[in-house]
Amino acid sequence: MAPPDLEQEKRLAAEAAAELVEDGMLLGLGTGSTVGHFLVALAGRGLRLRCVATSPRTEAAALELGLAVEPFAGIERLDLAVDGADQIAPSGWLVKGGGGAHTREKVAAAAADRFVVVASSDKPVDALGPPVPVELLAYGVEATLRSLAPAELRGVPASPDGGVIGDYLGPVGDPGELAARLAATAGLVEHGLFGPELVDEILVARGDLVERRRP
Ligand code: A5P
Repeated sequence: MAPPDLEQEKRLAAEAAAELVEDGMLLGLGTGSTVGHFLVALAGRGLRLRCVATSPRTEAAALELGLAVEPFAGIERLDLAVDGADQIAPSGWLVKGGGGAHTREKVAAAAADRFVVVASSDKPVDALGPPVPVELLAYGVEATLRSLAPAELRGVPASPDGGVIGDYLGPVGDPGELAARLAATAGLVEHGLFGPELVDEILVARGDLVERRRP
């Protein structure tokens, strides 16, 4: 059997998500290659929208496509946020942050009345595993890393908020337990585990079909 065309699947899932957008919405734009397809499909709909972006990369791409992007300031809620994922568990837990944007992505997802995840067929997994992205305060970063062990820094530029991007490399096990442990670590700004309570709908493209499920 031919391997799946993942780019085509990302595009199909993204196009299905773009159909959920209504005129006048306040939208959260995620980050990553699947979101890149979403931005193109969204711009193609020609709706009147106000958008906030979760990364400089998304902001630049959205502006280039003619979408109206504004700072996430003075805005208390979003109608809809759309984003990709690195891993999707059957329970609806996600790992995000492969692009290091998970802190802002989580803020946008939590602020949205509806958070929709778009993905190709390689993203669903039986169980979540490492790496789990983390954003750390630069202050005392080596000490924070030590208390997270096993963990490493990614060696990429700081986040737009000045955070240091790294990955927790230990087993995930129960994602709820790990999320609580990571969140309780001093110096950790945010981790890339997203709980099912944040997620309203997951659109996964498989070949020509888009599967929709709610966690
Ligand atoms: C960005 O930090 C991530 O959370 C992305 O949303 C995730 O890595 C999915 O990216 P792709 O759509 O490129 O697979």
